[in-house]
Amino acid sequence: MGSTRGALVVVGSGPGIGSHVARTFSSHGFTRIILLSRDPSRLEEDAKFIRSETPSADISTLAIDLSKTSEIASALAQVDKALNDTPIEVVLFNAARVGPSTLVSWPMEELELDLRIKVTGCYAVAQWAIPKLLAVKNTHKPAFLCTSGSIYKDPIPEVFSLSVCKAGQHNLVHSIHKKYKEEGVYCGLVVVGGVVGDDRPQCNAENIANKTWALYEERSDLEVEILDG
Ligand SMILES: NC(=O)c1ccc[n+]([C@@H]2O[C@H](COP(=O)([O-])OP(=O)(O)OC[C@H]3O[C@@H](n4cnc5c(N)ncnc54)[C@H](OP(=O)(O)O)[C@@H]3O)[C@@H](O)[C@H]2O)c1
Repeated sequence: MGSTRGALVVVGSGPGIGSHVARTFSSHGFTRIILLSRDPSRLEEDAKFIRSETPSADISTLAIDLSKTSEIASALAQVDKALNDTPIEVVLFNAARVGPSTLVSWPMEELELDLRIKVTGCYAVAQWAIPKLLAVKNTHKPAFLCTSGSIYKDPIPEVFSLSVCKAGQHNLVHSIHKKYKEEGVYCGLVVVGGVVGDDRPQCNAENIANKTWALYEERSDLEVEILDG
């Protein structure tokens, strides 16, 4: 492995898990960071949060709306442009629309929108990222990580739309894990088993970020599950 880290790309950064994972990775030498969400001006707050840990961090904030499938490729091309020659070492897919969905009055269009963000969006980012990660397997520790939830296997009817998406997303990342683990790209899932909050003993964003780092470092299991009592 080379002595210089490549870039970390967080697709769907926010004040919770996204920025905490980026901050934790920055403390381990990932100082080139790209943060993406729909609102790049709000992402400046995430960048500030990361710099509070790692003042030298070189952070770019870019816009992406994963619900607009046809625009994803051009948004990711902006990442390539911003990175110039810096290789991508880690991608975290973290974007989600979290909220209730009522059976069976939830409109089909809303289910489709959720699927576009979390399943099609995850696949689009993997299509873009995996060849780049494979290209650095001999010099870096490439990984494709995805934030998941225990609802992928134990759905909650009141958030059925999110549960359906998490099941599809988990299955997709599991396939990617199976295909690429022997080829040198680690793919893993951070499975959060409860509502994220500062007061949660395990499901707080800082602990989740530390578990994400451990998963990345160990790069053996498909997933780590984080549960409160
Ligand atoms: N929060 C929980 O209680 C909880 C529990 C279990 C699992 N999870 C999982 O954890 C991950 C999210 O972590 P978090 O809840 O702490 O959130 P977070 O990291 O604070 O932020 C996630 C970001 O995703 C972005 N996003 C939403 N829709 C998007 C879209 N269409 N295109 C691009 N970006 C989009 C949002 O930014 P914009 O709105 O600015 O686009 C948001 O800031 C998700 O995978 C979620 O399923 C969360």
